Amino acid sequence: MGVWVDANYLVSSSFYLLVLCLICSRKGNATAANGCDLFTGRWVFDPSYPLYKASACPFIQKEFSCQKNGRQDLLYTQYRWQPLGCTLTRFNGLKLLEKFRGKSIMFVGDSLSLNQWQSLTCMLHYAVPGAQFNISRVGDVTTFEFLLIKYEPCDIQLRQLKKMQDYEVKVMVDRSVYLVDVVMEKIGRVLKLDSIQGGKLWKGIDMLIFNTWHWWNRRGPTQPWDYIEVGGVIKQDMDRMQAFEIALNTWAGWVDANIDPSKSLLFFQGISPSHYNGTLWGEPKAKNCVGQKQPLLGTTYPGGLPPAVDVVKKVLSKMKKPVKLLDITLLSLLRKDGHPSMYGLGGSTGMDCSHWCLAGVPDTWNELLYNLIL
Ligand SMILES: *[C@@H]1O[C@H](CO)[C@@H](O)[C@H](O)[C@H]1NC(C)=O
Ligand SMILES: *[C@@H]1O[C@H](CO)[C@@H](O)[C@H](O)[C@H]1NC(C)=O
Repeated sequence: MGVWVDANYLVSSSFYLLVLCLICSRKGNATAANGCDLFTGRWVFDPSYPLYKASACPFIQKEFSCQKNGRQDLLYTQYRWQPLGCTLTRFNGLKLLEKFRGKSIMFVGDSLSLNQWQSLTCMLHYAVPGAQFNISRVGDVTTFEFLLIKYEPCDIQLRQLKKMQDYEVKVMVDRSVYLVDVVMEKIGRVLKLDSIQGGKLWKGIDMLIFNTWHWWNRRGPTQPWDYIEVGGVIKQDMDRMQAFEIALNTWAGWVDANIDPSKSLLFFQGISPSHYNGTLWGEPKAKNCVGQKQPLLGTTYPGGLPPAVDVVKKVLSKMKKPVKLLDITLLSLLRKDGHPSMYGLGGSTGMDCSHWCLAGVPDTWNELLYNLIL
């Protein structure tokens, strides 16, 4: 890009944009490395999507299994994210497995992390459908890995399979909804904004993708703590956005002190938005996402970004270690059609406009992640 900045004939920004578009359409695979903003763009219909069929991924959990739960429209699976300045490189599971041979990937956070983890495991399984895999859980950590073939097979096809299964890539998810600790004490369950003992599980992992947000506004019976502790003081409650920021700073301090960025790639998943208020997308009668079959096709969301996005950006900007923001908020806001609605865990009496159907929107989050680490 430096070439163009120095050029004398760079007289107007529109000319510059035209040139940029020509370069990108020619190369077709411009990535963040050459300055393209991957997160500004629009959804375009592309019948070559989804990246895998939901029915071909045998281990999707019920809460994301929209088709199995009865959702019949499939248009929502056929949109591709098109950044304005370039085109994403299509996800290639074999390339990712090759890059992470013998390594580990871990998502850390709430059920939106689970959603993205499940999407990635489906995408990898699709790349090597014949390979056997194992999904196991120890404590809060669930691990997906391909099983090894221990002998040297004579059969050429089996040899090929062995080569692929021998990637020994671990894809894990650590359920940690606040990132900071919730500890059982005599007075009850205490959410400790300055304490992050859970971090010991994250050391030595080759790529970490963190997320927390959805639980910070929980109140009533599903709030999993009784007191909140900050700076040695125990309180009944406090401003939740402020609590979120303090906890994120605790997490940032932990990462700065404990992670070696030459060994671990670091990402923050960003704020995954919900759709419970149609006014925000120009459909005031809609009280939730039910019946939504198509995305918003523009490049902006009428309701704007949730304020938590600014908090995340502020905290990340002050960090010493390079944590890349997987800035999925806007592109996901445009996907009012991507949620399970009545085809999620709660079935027809539930209404889930927070999680995402698989195949679906989180596949794009992973395709973006892939473009950032290629
Ligand atoms: C799956 O992983 C678990 C935990 O590591 C292990 O105990 C179990 O034996 C594995 N299953 C297979 C079939 O290898
Ligand atoms: C939906 O959003 C609009 C615009 O921000 C707001 O005025 C309204 O109170 C919201 N409705 C609900 C039910 O939260």
